[in-house]
Amino acid sequence: MTILELRDVSRHFPAARNLADLALRRPAAVLRAVHHVDLAIAGGETLGIVGESGCGKSTLARLAVGLLAANEGSVLFNGHPMNGPDPDGRIQMVFQDPYSSLNPRMTIGALLEEVVARYRPVLSKPERKAEVRETLLRVGLSPDTADKYPHALSGGQRQRVSIARALCPRPRILVADEPVSALDASVQAQIINLLQRLSDETGITILFISHDMQVVRHLCDRVAVMYLGELVELATVDALFDHPRHPYTTGLMDAVPDVSRRRGTARVPVSGEMPRPYAIIEGCRFASRCRFAELRCGEPQLLTETSDGGLVRCWKAAALDADAAASTLNGNS
Ligand SMILES: Nc1ncnc2c1ncn2[C@@H]1O[C@H](COP(=O)(O)OP(=O)(O)OP(=O)(O)O)[C@@H](O)[C@H]1O
Ligand code: SF4
Ligand SMILES: [Mg+2]
Repeated sequence: MTILELRDVSRHFPAARNLADLALRRPAAVLRAVHHVDLAIAGGETLGIVGESGCGKSTLARLAVGLLAANEGSVLFNGHPMNGPDPDGRIQMVFQDPYSSLNPRMTIGALLEEVVARYRPVLSKPERKAEVRETLLRVGLSPDTADKYPHALSGGQRQRVSIARALCPRPRILVADEPVSALDASVQAQIINLLQRLSDETGITILFISHDMQVVRHLCDRVAVMYLGELVELATVDALFDHPRHPYTTGLMDAVPDVSRRRGTARVPVSGEMPRPYAIIEGCRFASRCRFAELRCGEPQLLTETSDGGLVRCWKAAALDADAAASTLNGNS
């Protein structure tokens, strides 16, 4: 059942006015960071959001937790529209950088107790302390971590503390924005395993943002692929990795050496850079970088259902898929 829904959500930012704007007294350009996104997240699932830097992942995350208001559309938690962060803390965020997101002047215990006190004011002081101890254990830290300051902890331990802080209000949803990208590879794996365990043991819903396809493959049930503020593909993790449909998704996969490809098809990573999202683009937003682009791609592209129940925003996806299948059968490479 859907727990969180983004319904036709857009978030635009005014860009800084340049000299020409000032001279001609015209308004600043508008940057379309998130553009008409529809996304329903089921209770208990781990949904990955992937895409290049600047495609709108963090903006989408901030919209989902209510830290940012949508210009258009709405965000619904359990079917009710949200106006700002949930007052009961049922949706919590874990940030990328555990170094800057913890107050250096507070012990870990004081920091976590403060969160418990805010969201569960009925608890007595000893109950709050017990809750902090239990939460530290849940994230794989010893209870004496409560007496330490953030500088005394390693990067991995600090990210565990960030996760503990997010868990203190007993949330239903964790939104994790690149929670491991600032960590060493071995520590990354430990944090991913921790999130996996929390999901298995507690059934918490996780919105997991990453540009690392392998990590997403390991952790997520479904994956949403974003390009230039738009959702271009949504599929179960198996379907997406076995059988990417959108040319952008295929290009993303082809850029990762360890991701296997259909036999007989060559690897063609996406070339060039994603444009800044200022222009109003009527047709496919990926067209400027797509090697399959043709005239009809200039028409608006809708998300359509794929044969395995996913969604793809490309009118040519089925034909490209059939070509790839034929190429595999013929053993071409
Ligand atoms: N507060 C803001 N004011 C103006 N522009 C913004 C603001 N926040 C984000 N943007 C712009 O919106 C676009 C999407 O940014 P966002 O941070 O959501 O991307 P991202 O996918 O999280 O990128 P990364 O992978 O680098 O974290 C970018 O062009 C960014 O410059
Ligand atoms: S609609 Fe056209 S340009 Fe866009 S991804 Fe599909 S083939 Fe490429
Ligand atoms: Mg980001």
